[in-house]
Amino acid sequence: MNNFWTVSSILFIIPVCAFCALGTPPNLRDIYIGKCYEYVEVVKKDAFYRPEEVDCEKLYDLFLEAFVGRDPCDVPPERYRAYVDASAHEMTIHNRALLATGNTKPFIYQIANMGLRYFTMVDTLTVYPVNEFVWCGKKNSDELNTESCPDYGFCVNLSYVTLYSELSRKHVRQMSGTLHVLFNGSSRPMFSFRSYLVQHELIHINKTKVKKILAHVLNIPPHSEAGKSNEGETCQSLLAFREYVEKEGMQYECRENEKLVFPM
Ligand SMILES: *[C@@H]1O[C@H](CO)[C@@H](O)[C@H](O)[C@H]1NC(C)=O
Ligand SMILES: *[C@@H]1O[C@H](CO)[C@@H](O)[C@H](O)[C@H]1NC(C)=O
Ligand SMILES: *[C@@H]1O[C@H](CO)[C@@H](O)[C@H](O)[C@H]1NC(C)=O
Repeated sequence: MNNFWTVSSILFIIPVCAFCALGTPPNLRDIYIGKCYEYVEVVKKDAFYRPEEVDCEKLYDLFLEAFVGRDPCDVPPERYRAYVDASAHEMTIHNRALLATGNTKPFIYQIANMGLRYFTMVDTLTVYPVNEFVWCGKKNSDELNTESCPDYGFCVNLSYVTLYSELSRKHVRQMSGTLHVLFNGSSRPMFSFRSYLVQHELIHINKTKVKKILAHVLNIPPHSEAGKSNEGETCQSLLAFREYVEKEGMQYECRENEKLVFPM
């Protein structure tokens, strides 16, 4: 995995546009291996990876083992465990970690422009080779389904969605100390129990290690329309989130539009 703030914080988004394609690309193997080596040798997003330490063909095999021969809706997250473990190297997360909600790329990029170094799931070797398409197999068959895969949301354990769940699970479980969660103050509702944040991230928190959740409500860009300012109301609209956090036995704090500063 890539690191930012010297491997102290992570931020995951689910890449919305990854789910636009129809079926598995027929040349999946070539694409995977090519992008895997591109990541390791050219993109080099992650200084932790050394080309000689990465076996893209082996990773591809592990990736395939998760879903080939199975119904596309019967690929629970743990099917990807071996692949995720092999492709994501160990990350030490110190006292802070970051999750973003709002799940939109612009939101993330604007945060990045605030001077934070971060990475998203797309920036990992786990996801980079398969980020731009969907994939699924066929029950009791070695073939890839190149015609069509179920739509995003069609079922829970969908082959091309649960990879992200497993990756989130792995990393959320490692988090300790104070967990920072970013909210887009302009999106409504800001918080939902059905969100990716709850369903795939917060449920995996190790409450022995994470003591506090710090919610940051960011209004980017700041509300400029006269009379339409939400200022002072944004933390209040996270009441349900606060209750969720406190019920889980963690401390809660909310800050609005504060400049995020994470010292190294
Ligand atoms: C999805 O997979 C999990 C196992 O991780 C299983 O407990 C659950 O029942 C599955 N859900 C559906 C709807 O198949
Ligand atoms: C925040 O949410 C609003 C409303 O959903 C959306 O229009 C806006 O693009 C989001 N901001 C960013 C930076 O993603
Ligand atoms: C949670 O963290 C504690 C302390 O590090 C550890 O002993 C425990 O095994 C972890 N629990 C799980 C479910 O990983």
